[in-house]
Amino acid sequence: MIVTTAQLFKIAYGKYAIGAYNINNAEQAMGLFKGCLASQAPCIIQISKGARKYTDKRMLEAIIRSAGEIFPEAIFAVHLDHGDEETCYDCIDSGFYSSVMIDASHNPFDENVAITKRVVDRAHAKGISVEAELGMLGGVEEDIKVEEGNACLTDPAEAERFVKQTGCDSLACAIGTSHGAFKFKGRQSLHFDVLTKIKSRLPGFPLVMHGSSSVPKEEVDRINAAGGKIAGSMGVDPNEYLPAAKLGVTKVNIDTDGRLVWTRVHREFFRDKPAEFDFRPPGKIFIEEYAKFIASRSQLLGSAGQLSAVRAALPVPSQDISRRAYYLWEQAGRPTGRDTELWLQAEAQARPSLDKETCKGQAIEKRPSPPKRH
Ligand code: G3H
Ligand code: 13P
Ligand code: ZN
Repeated sequence: MIVTTAQLFKIAYGKYAIGAYNINNAEQAMGLFKGCLASQAPCIIQISKGARKYTDKRMLEAIIRSAGEIFPEAIFAVHLDHGDEETCYDCIDSGFYSSVMIDASHNPFDENVAITKRVVDRAHAKGISVEAELGMLGGVEEDIKVEEGNACLTDPAEAERFVKQTGCDSLACAIGTSHGAFKFKGRQSLHFDVLTKIKSRLPGFPLVMHGSSSVPKEEVDRINAAGGKIAGSMGVDPNEYLPAAKLGVTKVNIDTDGRLVWTRVHREFFRDKPAEFDFRPPGKIFIEEYAKFIASRSQLLGSAGQLSAVRAALPVPSQDISRRAYYLWEQAGRPTGRDTELWLQAEAQARPSLDKETCKGQAIEKRPSPPKRH
């Protein structure tokens, strides 16, 4: 079931964090869904601009739709990662994404506010959540490289002003992490001091931590032992995810770690089987290994075992929306016409209280569907 990030954040805030994982292909999607269900965790699936271009944006949408059908128990948001304004509008208008990130953090404060506000207005009109960013992480993301010296931590006072002025639903803050496999020189901690200040200015407001991969040493060692050359890598201590969650970090972005799992599996497979050229055997191993990795992250984020509580806390399960829509359609004398379906959807969403009293026990399965637009 696709939900918005704002819905997930409301349930998880202050207790645990939701893992946000980038996907690019079917194998990652399979591993992600398997791992989430094995650990009974909700998740956020995120798609970067690069991922949308890798094959075709419609291919990824189809993969995620299919995964949702293969794993009907799963609860997830579909989110655009690091969007520019144009890509945000494309995702908002697609009718598929439930959440977008507008990343205008490279602009001066006022420009960031203006761009973010425009995206928030367009997204909220369609019930879509918006993540914005303030402060600058180091590392490489898409085509933008931020040198370590230019990275800057989020200013807590600015964060408060930014959220008030833009109306965004969550805020990506720079608290010492960076994108990619080379985050720190030596072991370093998150800036909990900055996080504490941001939380005190924005109590109850969901914060997002980008660049959260842990870059496990065992993984990198295995890659290097199988012919890789990854030197000097260092990631976030995954035992800091939960303390950060208690301070308002409700979304934790992890991409690089998944790429490391892929590289380790494939390097080891072809090292050990040099005569092999079929991609399915290592692909199958990758799916299982990625699923294990995701389940391990659910434990560290505190999201493991939360699926049934999330389902219970969601305001209106989707099948109840269609049940209520059917009831309203009948009450209105079974209207037909161009905008009937849209009207019903809006009515059913806007009147959740109707559900429990009037629609109880109606056997909608045997009835015709509400009319389609024509
Ligand atoms: O923050 C960026 C993500 O890791 C996505 O990476 O732009 O190479 O898909 P990508
Ligand atoms: P990592 O590079 O640490 O996995 O961060 C991913 C990310 O922030 C995606 O937006
Ligand atoms: Zn990021």
